Amino acid sequence: MTTIKPARMQHIALEVSDMDKSIAFYREVLGFKLTERHSAGEVPAIPVELTFLRLGEQHHDLVLVHNPKKTYRSKPTRPEDDLEGIASFHHFAFECDTREDWMAVFDKVAANGAPVVRGPVVHSFVDPRGDGSWGENEAVYILDPDGHRIEIFCNLANIGSDGTHISADGARMEGTTTAEL
Ligand SMILES: [Fe+2]
Repeated sequence: MTTIKPARMQHIALEVSDMDKSIAFYREVLGFKLTERHSAGEVPAIPVELTFLRLGEQHHDLVLVHNPKKTYRSKPTRPEDDLEGIASFHHFAFECDTREDWMAVFDKVAANGAPVVRGPVVHSFVDPRGDGSWGENEAVYILDPDGHRIEIFCNLANIGSDGTHISADGARMEGTTTAEL
């Protein structure tokens, strides 16, 4: 049976309170290139500012959205302080191809002064270095200028045919399980 589904998850559109500040952050800290930036109302059906940014060849991987008529308030940066409000997203993530790339990106992020709110951490309950959580990857979490939480990671596990997780170096992580194959 053919499973009908989208090919992959792609961009995220992120609401930001200060477009200039956020464009600078994503360009300087995470290396995005600016594809195009548009004012609110340029297209009558779109009453918000839109900026399209890319990491590779595709037109955009990230869209920044700003409503010039909206009053923005700041967001709690610690989950334990975020106790009331609308349901929103928790974090989004960037994958690095190798652990060396990941460490280099982390060094760049730290050099740019972006707040590091968690990590570096190994997400594993099998690896002796692990934090007891899931996915067999290494990660660090930073905040963008609005307090949006961003994960930068490498070496996420794959799911083997029997549901055992397979680490990035090909090892079976015995004891791991998968809810649905
Ligand atoms: Fe994550």
